[in-house]
Amino acid sequence: MKVFLSIDAAAKAVGSEDVAEALTAEAARRGLELDLIRVGSRGMVWLEPLAEVEIDGVRHAFGPVRVEDVPALLDGTLAGHGPTEEIPFFAGQTRLTFARCGVIDPLDLTAFEALGGLTGLRAAIAAPGDVVETVKASGLRGRGGAGFPTGIKWQTVAGAKADRKYIVCNADEGDSGTFADRMIIEGDPFSLIEGMAIAGIGVGATKGYVYMRSEYPDATATLERAVAIARAAGVLGDGVLGSGHAFDIEVRVGAGAYVCGEETSLLNSLEGKRGEVRPKPPLPALEGLFGKPTVVNNVISLATVPVIFEKGAEHYADFGLGRSRGTIPLQIAGNVKYGGLYEIAFGLPLGEIVNGIGGGTRSGRPVKAVQVGGPLGAYFPVSGFDTPFGYEEFDGAGGLIGHAGLVVFDDSADMLELARFAMEFCAVESCGKCTPCRIGSVRGVETLERIAAGDAGATALLTDLCETMELGSLCALGGFTPYPVMSAIRHFPDEFTGQREAAE
Ligand code: NAI
Ligand code: SF4
Repeated sequence: MKVFLSIDAAAKAVGSEDVAEALTAEAARRGLELDLIRVGSRGMVWLEPLAEVEIDGVRHAFGPVRVEDVPALLDGTLAGHGPTEEIPFFAGQTRLTFARCGVIDPLDLTAFEALGGLTGLRAAIAAPGDVVETVKASGLRGRGGAGFPTGIKWQTVAGAKADRKYIVCNADEGDSGTFADRMIIEGDPFSLIEGMAIAGIGVGATKGYVYMRSEYPDATATLERAVAIARAAGVLGDGVLGSGHAFDIEVRVGAGAYVCGEETSLLNSLEGKRGEVRPKPPLPALEGLFGKPTVVNNVISLATVPVIFEKGAEHYADFGLGRSRGTIPLQIAGNVKYGGLYEIAFGLPLGEIVNGIGGGTRSGRPVKAVQVGGPLGAYFPVSGFDTPFGYEEFDGAGGLIGHAGLVVFDDSADMLELARFAMEFCAVESCGKCTPCRIGSVRGVETLERIAAGDAGATALLTDLCETMELGSLCALGGFTPYPVMSAIRHFPDEFTGQREAAE
């Protein structure tokens, strides 16, 4: 009997390891030959722990599986969800970046190759001079949040003259409600390694670093093992896949500061310095790690590169909307019925994501707002649900897609408290380098507390403060904190009239 069981941290958090143990013990007790294959997550977090049983060559989904369900699972009497890939949440997706995630053992390099792995790297080795143009033609933009064209960034680094260049992967995924970086590293780490090697060949870098979030111990362990396997197999090292290109990767773990997800702060941290933001210019593409030209890309940007080289830039660019090309791994979280990772072409309206894919709130109450883009993202009310998911479209609606995390709130959400939390988050995480962020966020918390205490006039002061933070901060932390605050005021003005606590 062949059973696939998720090994993702989200599955572990809800008991997958106990289920694995119970499966092995029960199969042994019955004298049943069990082939238990641990895989990454299919992204359907609400079904975790998800066990898939292969029946006539097709995987059938069962979940959430509890320890007490194990005998029925082995008997074939447990009610399931039918073929996994026919579940609407899965069937509606266009999986390019996450094509292998949840399908294979994350550390099985042979299985990775059997499903298209390393094809992109071989294509890049065959025509290294075309790498930058191919990425440009794909339309890929930075998936960390800013959406800067990846090919242009690589072109800047490729054109810079230096004795050493670096590829730095930003895996400091700090946005609330996001988990795409973690999920792909835990579920298909070789895709990231392959993407980094292609980047190295394209720009002439021989060394790559992955800056891991300290809160991701499972992902770190998986990636370290994957790097060792890739090195032993000749995918990394002095001659990548037997070519004349050298490229190797080192995994480094941060110490838990949100601001170290900002690229210059991350570079400082990698160099062993305090994680403080550097002014730009100089751009990291010209003077980055140890002062050398450096590609700094998010995990998803780099893990998407192999499929572009495997299937062609045009194939990738055919998906999407406007200047947002390709697919985006949406991370649907918060008070939502079907939370998880959903990869789809850009362009789907926000309301369809929340109500159609996410199934509305888990509490069953009406949706009030969705925060898109992490703690620095704007709140969208239901009236904004026709906004198509794209960089320019969200920008035009006063928001940002950021790292594509969505956190859903029902009608019990307290928008003033959420605005206060945004300012408090900024105050706690500020690196302290510039005044609008360091001092402004503390004043922001105080001003919101004044509004809550009945001082409605303080709202004008808060608006003024937000403008100063937005225009005067050195990086996105101070500069974007006004987004959640001002969007809450704009869309839910009644909650900022100062009458609430005064009346209580
Ligand atoms: P940015 O707009 O300053 O830069 C975007 C990228 O383009 C950077 O890597 C920059 O170095 C590069 N770049 C700009 N001009 C270039 C040129 N001519 N040649 C080569 N490269 C060039 O934005 P920033 O501050 O890097 O990122 C802000 C975003 O980060 C926000 O939109 C936010 O959503 C996101 N974010 C993501 C988090 C996460 O957990 N993934 C956490 C916090 C923020
Ligand atoms: Fe540091 Fe905040 Fe200024 Fe960014 S905006 S450089 S986090 S003080």
